[in-house]
Amino acid sequence: MTLSTDSHNPIQVSERRPSGIDVCQLIPLWTLSDERGSLSVIEASKDIPFDVRRVYYLYDFTGVKRGGHAHKRLQQLFIAVSGSFDVVLDDGRRKKTVRLSRANEGLYICPMIWREILNPAPGSVCLVLASTHYDEKDYYRSYEEFVAEL
Ligand code: TYD
Repeated sequence: MTLSTDSHNPIQVSERRPSGIDVCQLIPLWTLSDERGSLSVIEASKDIPFDVRRVYYLYDFTGVKRGGHAHKRLQQLFIAVSGSFDVVLDDGRRKKTVRLSRANEGLYICPMIWREILNPAPGSVCLVLASTHYDEKDYYRSYEEFVAEL
């Protein structure tokens, strides 16, 4: 799938792998930096392949692992708007770790990815754009159940 955009970055999501960790890509965000500072923009369904139905953010990390679940249908974009942290992605066959450390890029996470957030730097803030409203029924909270479903 290719989402073209007039003004921003096109998203290239391979058609050969509609799901899995290879689809989970770092997306550079259109950013204007000048003497006043920086401004980054995300336009739903243009710069990311979904409409945004929910926004939440994680902060005041204590060091205890966050995540530890997968979603059936939810698509997300994670952005380290401040600080840095690791996102461990697992599609049941392979894992990869992506460190988010810049406010001008976001990590696209497709459905059916087990994820954990580790090693946050003090003061980090993880902004999440989500494709659906909150729905507990969309979660796999058990890794065994997640793998069995794949
Ligand atoms: P969860 O998605 O499990 O986050 P994490 O894995 O980072 O801890 O959410 C934690 C709790 O917050 C869980 O009980 C569900 C609740 N929650 C909502 O009520 N609405 C939301 O939009 C989100 C993201 C979580």
